[in-house]
Amino acid sequence: MRHSAIYPGSFDPLTSGHLDLIERASHIFDHVVVAVGVNSRKKTFFSAEERIEMVKSSVKSLKNVRVDSFNGLLVNYARAKKIHVLLRGLRAFSDFEYEFQMALANRKLAPEIEMIFLMPKETHSYISSSTVREISDRGGDISQFVPPSVKKFIERKKSGVRSKN
Ligand code: PNS
Repeated sequence: MRHSAIYPGSFDPLTSGHLDLIERASHIFDHVVVAVGVNSRKKTFFSAEERIEMVKSSVKSLKNVRVDSFNGLLVNYARAKKIHVLLRGLRAFSDFEYEFQMALANRKLAPEIEMIFLMPKETHSYISSSTVREISDRGGDISQFVPPSVKKFIERKKSGVRSKN
């Protein structure tokens, strides 16, 4: 499993920036696990099931990418999976402090686990899940910010149509 990596996140919802990162990672690593954090203290807008479904629908065509979820500490999940690389995206300087704290805390907890940072395509560097939620909430068009399958999912949710899965 040396060439596997975990890409953890809330994905509330998954954005085009997240997908760009997953695609980049899929070219670097043999296997990529997108791990949706389901029990963090963070209150999410979309349920765990919804977030997992949105990620799954977006990575369908990437054969070496699978989607999973995790509870509790990320490093414990990584150890359980015997995967020693954690990927995170860095969009702008403003991401650095949070990522730095998380990386060093994770390193203290699990020195054998390495965090690797990738930068999304510059045209995606301003996109965040919270921006997408805000635009969508106010009736704006989110097609430039999320993959088509996520847009469809959000539209279905807003119109009160239950998902098929
Ligand atoms: O997309 P996000 O919200 O920035 O993802 C954050 C996430 C889920 C990766 C992070 O909150 C996390 O790792 N949570 C699990 C709890 C944990 O391991 N905390 C210790 C690191 S500070």
